[in-house]
Amino acid sequence: MSALAVAIHAVAATLWVGGMFFAYQILRPSMPLLDGPPPRLKLWLGVFDRFFPWVWGIVIALPLTGYWQIYSDYGGMDGVGPHIHAMQGVGWVMIVLFGYLYFGPYAKFKTAVVDEAWPAAGEQLNSIRRIVGTNLILGLVTTAAGASGRLWVL
Ligand code: HEM
Repeated sequence: MSALAVAIHAVAATLWVGGMFFAYQILRPSMPLLDGPPPRLKLWLGVFDRFFPWVWGIVIALPLTGYWQIYSDYGGMDGVGPHIHAMQGVGWVMIVLFGYLYFGPYAKFKTAVVDEAWPAAGEQLNSIRRIVGTNLILGLVTTAAGASGRLWVL
């Protein structure tokens, strides 16, 4: 069970952070290849509609598998190093940010694109970009700390 929890935890983190990296660093700068806001905004909606259901699964899997490791392998919160405390703290911030993004800017973005209200959609996309950018940085730091922490924490 623990091997499965570790594997699911690592794969979930890879999918979430890798997906955000691709969206932010690769797809976003490629958008000018499309002509004007409407096709770009429609493409973003298609991308979010496909990525966010995965993220919902991930934000359930990460804490479940993380706390599984803590309580079954490390004997509870007192048995883990500061890198794990930091990971769970930052992890919850990332999860709350994603929840806010999903029910706030993403919901409004979707309505605006469906209504073809392009300036309003563009505004919401800016908020989404800022939140994804923040979560990307937090996710990169958390992944580095999660994977290497036991080697440098005393
Ligand atoms: C939300 C609560 C979370 C808890 C309770 C948690 C807990 C843990 C624990 C106990 C480990 C084992 C570390 C070791 O053996 O030294 C771990 C590893 C790891 N965590 Fe987390 N984690 C959480 C969130 C996250 C998030 C948000 C990410 C990245 C987006 C992440 C990425 C990783 C990675 C890459 C590893 C190393 C691979 C592994 O050993 O599973 N974790 N985590």
